[in-house]
Amino acid sequence: MKLLMLCREPNLYSCRRLKMTAENAGHKIDILDPNRFLLKIQENRPHFALYYQPNQGTPYLLPDYDAVIPRFGTQSTKMGCSVLTHLAAKNIPCLNNPASFALARDKWLSLQALAAANIAVPVTVFAGQDFQAGSAVEKVSSPTILKTLNGSQGIGVILADRSQSAVSIMETLTLSHIPVLLQNFIGEAGVSDIRCFVIGDKVVATMQRSGQKGEFRANCHRGGITQQITLSYDEKLIAVRAAQALGLDVAGVDLIQSKKGLLVLEVNASPGLEMIEKTSGIDVATQMIAYLEKKIAGL
Ligand SMILES: Nc1ncnc2c1ncn2[C@@H]1O[C@H](COP(=O)(O)OP(=O)(O)O)[C@@H](O)[C@H]1O
Ligand SMILES: [Mg+2]
Repeated sequence: MKLLMLCREPNLYSCRRLKMTAENAGHKIDILDPNRFLLKIQENRPHFALYYQPNQGTPYLLPDYDAVIPRFGTQSTKMGCSVLTHLAAKNIPCLNNPASFALARDKWLSLQALAAANIAVPVTVFAGQDFQAGSAVEKVSSPTILKTLNGSQGIGVILADRSQSAVSIMETLTLSHIPVLLQNFIGEAGVSDIRCFVIGDKVVATMQRSGQKGEFRANCHRGGITQQITLSYDEKLIAVRAAQALGLDVAGVDLIQSKKGLLVLEVNASPGLEMIEKTSGIDVATQMIAYLEKKIAGL
């Protein structure tokens, strides 16, 4: 097969692992930067054409691919999803379809989709820019978590110890035209959460993450440490249902243990492979490529 990976940083562990795994399985794989594409909607069939301009090179018409693996970061969501939509319009299977990918990249819209599927999430509010910050903050508990809608790796997540801090942070972000959601802080989780790697209808790997001293975010990029964890069938089912609620083939589902049970914090459409493979000892990349092969075959 001829595969395409959309990614800006081919040297990242996840991209290297997927490339190596695809090549070992006998596939060819190109890694292209979504921001170097030109997308054209044209009169004649095929209506969707894609051009690519390599670094300092001449643009060329993109050849056809058998499937695409989106691995672009939050800085490239808009162009990346646009490229993905163009490829999907050409009936090229995507390992995460463009609409689901875009949905997962919006923390508020994805929480709405999860809640609509009856999946437990923390109490969260999202206020319009003209709704008074003080009144919005009253709707959640204190301490309060504030989140920008498109953050990742813990960046864009803020903990306000007091209501007054939450109000002033919210006012500042709103004035800067940065939409933000407010959420109950799940303090009883003890700065620890669970990452589930979902492929299709299976949790293929899990890990527990704990934030470093003085930190409230458990993300590995913020210094969180990982350890193995075994989940029950019902716990895994929450992660699978969350991925399915957003329509994702591949997802990194973050779960947090609250007094009332496990809650879904967020669902990542392009979850990292490094820490989950190293912690669990499971070859996630091979399972992703195997799943993609089945998808291409229409199985
Ligand atoms: N409501 C919350 N209560 C307690 N901790 C939270 C809450 N929301 C986020 N966190 C902590 O912050 C981390 C990052 O939040 P998350 O929503 O997963 O955003 P990101 O996309 O940046 O990973 C989580 O892994 C968790 O440790
Ligand atoms: Mg997260």
